[in-house]
Amino acid sequence: MSELVIRKLLIDLAEPMPRHWNGGDAFSSALLNALSMSFPVGEQFFIDSVRAGHKALPEAEQARFSREVQGFIGQEATHRRLHGLFNDQLTRLGYVNHWEVRARARLKRMERLNCRHAVAATAATEHLTAILAEWLLSRPQMLAGAPARLRTLWHWHASEESEHRCTAFDLYKALGGDETRRLRWMRLVTLFFLMDLLRQTSHNLWRDGELMRWRTWKSGWRFLFGAGGLISSNLKPWRTYFKGDFHPAQQDDQLSRDWLSAHASDFTVVSRP
Ligand SMILES: [Fe+2]
Ligand SMILES: [Fe+2]
Repeated sequence: MSELVIRKLLIDLAEPMPRHWNGGDAFSSALLNALSMSFPVGEQFFIDSVRAGHKALPEAEQARFSREVQGFIGQEATHRRLHGLFNDQLTRLGYVNHWEVRARARLKRMERLNCRHAVAATAATEHLTAILAEWLLSRPQMLAGAPARLRTLWHWHASEESEHRCTAFDLYKALGGDETRRLRWMRLVTLFFLMDLLRQTSHNLWRDGELMRWRTWKSGWRFLFGAGGLISSNLKPWRTYFKGDFHPAQQDDQLSRDWLSAHASDFTVVSRP
């Protein structure tokens, strides 16, 4: 079982931030803003799914998962709260969150499904966040131009995503979830994630007046498809989810552990298992 620590991050998110906060780069700022816009609704869904999945387990299994589920919920609730503050700054800058509206409508339609579906969708999304986290932590240059407090926010979130990457997957297995459903949800989640990411990033750029500029998409191409880019680097780790013997623990978490021990002064520990 994963040992999950709940941390309180010591950064100021009330201070306004520049529009293109990631080193003046419009594309990567817009894409990371889009991701952040999806977090509050997404993380509430993960919390609700894992809580419902945990409740549906037989009693002995419930006890085995209790502490880990508590840690998972605590971590995601903290992410949701801090990205809510980050998103308040985006609203002040004039950005509009359409991703959240679309996600809420989709999640409403999922309510009638058995909780195993929600846990499968959560496990799939948690794999996406874990590989994106590893990508971000292994490429500090991606956030090199960001204000230190925002860099800390993204690296802390990435480190904890890596830390709790097994919880939803293990819960899905403990619920007796089958392989067909697990893989079907990964295909669906990936499709919606990429579509929403593209739409919200484009919308953010449109608000900036940067959408139709050559330099925006030149930088965007490099960020997504260049050497070490977000899409080019993550295709292979994404595919590992489709292997029959896949387990999230197969992904190395050394970078997450290194970041958390090197930045212990950036947070206080709220609870430890
Ligand atoms: Fe999170
Ligand atoms: Fe997560």
